[in-house]
Amino acid sequence: MSLTAHRGEILHFLNDPTNTVRMDADDTNVTDCWHYFKDGLLVLEAGYVRNCGASADLLKTLPTGTPIIEHRHGLIMPGFVDAHVHYPQCEVIGAYDTQLLDWLETHTFPAELKFSDQQYGEEIAAFFIDQLLSNGTTTALVFGTVHPESVDAFFTVAERRKLRMICGKVMMDRHAPKALCDTPASSYQQSRDLIRRWHGRSRLSYAVTPRFAPTSSPEQLDMAGRLMREFPDVYLQTHLSENLKECEWVSTLFPEQKDYLDVYDHHGLLGRRSVFAHGIHLSDDEWQRLHQTDSSIAFCPTSNLFIGSGLFRLDKADEYHVSVGLGTDVGGGDSFSILRTINEAYKVQQLQGDNLSPFRALYLATLGGAKSLNLESVIGNFESGKEADFVVLDYQATKLLDFRIKKCKSIMERLFVLQMLGDDRAIRETWIMGEKQILD
Ligand code: GUN
Ligand code: ZN
Repeated sequence: MSLTAHRGEILHFLNDPTNTVRMDADDTNVTDCWHYFKDGLLVLEAGYVRNCGASADLLKTLPTGTPIIEHRHGLIMPGFVDAHVHYPQCEVIGAYDTQLLDWLETHTFPAELKFSDQQYGEEIAAFFIDQLLSNGTTTALVFGTVHPESVDAFFTVAERRKLRMICGKVMMDRHAPKALCDTPASSYQQSRDLIRRWHGRSRLSYAVTPRFAPTSSPEQLDMAGRLMREFPDVYLQTHLSENLKECEWVSTLFPEQKDYLDVYDHHGLLGRRSVFAHGIHLSDDEWQRLHQTDSSIAFCPTSNLFIGSGLFRLDKADEYHVSVGLGTDVGGGDSFSILRTINEAYKVQQLQGDNLSPFRALYLATLGGAKSLNLESVIGNFESGKEADFVVLDYQATKLLDFRIKKCKSIMERLFVLQMLGDDRAIRETWIMGEKQILD
């Protein structure tokens, strides 16, 4: 079988390093949590990782003639995971002057109306996927719109690019423009048809997608629960406890439920494949229930700051051992870049007197994100047999980055500066299943 090797500085994670900041050596450094090789080799076979280690150990094991691709002044890492993003919201990114509920009415719903046209959906999906790849994101959990065509469009483009992606049709039967509303029965049937057509095909998976509690009747949430029972290996994605006015609204719409999470719980929507975006204003009971059900949260700092929703409690997620991934939440979020997302996550932590080490941040962007999507057996690091989706980060991407990185005395400092100053310019290459992607 033909092998290819990529040689350069390599970092990947095996476990959550929590807030560890120390890396004692600046050379090869292998711990329970990460493997760092100053001069490393990533050996691929037919699109999968065969081996990853120090060049000094692995070069001699390669059959003669194995092509070796050298990556200088850069860092090879697993591709980034975006645990929450809306592809139909590309054109509302950076919209002025609103918070969540007005933002939906003013900017988002009008943009989503256009996705009844599959052709339009494919154009935007292609643009969106180019944006993800230029930003080093290789897997995402993605919202479509209420139109099943939007999901057909997205999966068609993602399949062509051989990507590992999860997407779903929005279920929404109230409190939205009529043209964006389905019904409990039609949302069930359309979701079921999409699951049959796409779930498990190529590297694609389906997510049952009630938008959020206010836009689904109890009957529709029942249908979402029915889908989760009938197709136990599909995902569930929705929004949870993002904005205080939204939370108040949910408590008046669902007076019988004891809290926001309980609305979803009551309909059987919690579990290992359930990913709740935001989760900013949660009670300890809700954190405990997320833990009990092994549900995940997508931490979306750019969005939480941009649309003024609040500060996510990463400390609570840690206290209750709730799995967390990073989400850009474009178009509520103002950047496709996971590096920028980390930058804002760091500041959210600072404002709460807490910390986010550069190692933890990159763990969340890779293996942590993969775990939040229950995909850690196939992506997230360079263990043998994983799919070879990876990025090459560029320490010299800008004059400032180059200047500042040269002052760094350790890998820890270099990683931190890369996160604080980096964006799509710091993504030199993105590889999918061992194939280099052409970036914008
Ligand atoms: N809550 C319900 N819908 C949305 C959405 O599209 N974006 C965000 N950020 N929150 C939501
Ligand atoms: Zn969202």
